[in-house]
Amino acid sequence: MNKQQAKQRFGIIGNSPLLERAIDIALQVAHTDISVFVSGESGTGKENIPKIIHQNSNRKHNNYIAVNCGAIPEGTIDSELFGHEKGSFTGAHDSRKGYFEVANGGTIFLDEVAELPMSTQVRLLRVLESGEFMKVGSSNAIKTDVRVIAATNVNIPNAIKEGKFREDLYYRLNTISIFIPALRDRKEDISLLFRKFASDFADKYNTPSIRLESDALKLITDYNWPGNIRQLRNFVAQLSVIEKERNISATTVLHALPENRNENNSPILFEEKSKADLSEREILYKVLFDMKRDLTELKKITFDLINNEENSNFNKDIFNDVNENEITLLPKQQESDSQEEVYTLANHEKNLIKKSLEKHNGKRKLAAEELGISERTLYRKIKEFKL
Ligand SMILES: Nc1ncnc2c1ncn2[C@@H]1O[C@H](COP(=O)(O)OP(=O)(O)O)[C@@H](O)[C@H]1O
Ligand SMILES: [Mg+2]
Repeated sequence: MNKQQAKQRFGIIGNSPLLERAIDIALQVAHTDISVFVSGESGTGKENIPKIIHQNSNRKHNNYIAVNCGAIPEGTIDSELFGHEKGSFTGAHDSRKGYFEVANGGTIFLDEVAELPMSTQVRLLRVLESGEFMKVGSSNAIKTDVRVIAATNVNIPNAIKEGKFREDLYYRLNTISIFIPALRDRKEDISLLFRKFASDFADKYNTPSIRLESDALKLITDYNWPGNIRQLRNFVAQLSVIEKERNISATTVLHALPENRNENNSPILFEEKSKADLSEREILYKVLFDMKRDLTELKKITFDLINNEENSNFNKDIFNDVNENEITLLPKQQESDSQEEVYTLANHEKNLIKKSLEKHNGKRKLAAEELGISERTLYRKIKEFKL
């Protein structure tokens, strides 16, 4: 199988050099028995790599078993992987073969390997080093010939420092390392993937395929896709099902893309570009996004306050008067039972911030927490309102 055939066979879309390199390495190491460690963010397509390796190895006529280590309860994982003897624990009515026995001659893919409990890591290290393992409740070593491929989206060196992952196991698994780039680092593939998913959905549901207007394409290319290809596919699915208009505009995209937040709880939607690099249109989108973000923050502040019984008294007078010149919005939770009520927010933001600061004796951190905004945003607003 060459690279093109591998892509075809496993439905891998994309021509970015980083992705192609990952496939090349997989093909090169396939015929060996070397352990391979696949890293990359969630949703980048890590699961394709072990499949390519297995199908291009001498093991391809034997079993390929993919195990999601994160999905198996800690109490049963040893037994799943290595099997158990009858009566070895309550409920073990029969003896059972584990994956390492069933996959003899084949390949095991340990997905989310960082989730393995320490005790299982010890057993895994042993089978990797000696080719032998023992069933739970047995003291007989069983020989097995399994090729192991592991994957994780966790930063393993950190996990090692925190004492959650064995260093010796990491080095044993990580003989060859394959990195799958995030979607935002292979932007050239985004449009290809969109068209592929759109046409898949169209075929599946027998509807016309959605297509992107050029502004809309620009937006999804600039978006940072924290959930990578999985998120993009779900996004296309959502638009394919919901949108009657099959030409997708930038406005539609704008509404459908979720906000994502960094560790400071500030939204990050697009990579930061300097003002000079932005076209007029992009600036406009940025402004729209900022407005959308502000509205979301304001909604959150409102709901938090409404839901916070301690503050129930001052809620009433804050939200009572309506100023038509301001942006108005109808909080979702209120829609059904009080159709007429329209709360204005912009004017009261200052008030809320002031009260919250007073309540917390000027401690910005606490006020920001209560208001559901980042400290940085609060700081900006304090300056803005000259509080
Ligand atoms: N290059 C690609 N082309 C098309 N679909 C892809 C590609 N990479 C991943 N996918 C799809 O995206 C989804 C997530 O991939 P997966 O391998 O499960 O990600 P990970 O294991 O890294 O979280 C899967 O449905 C997979 O089929
Ligand atoms: Mg996965």
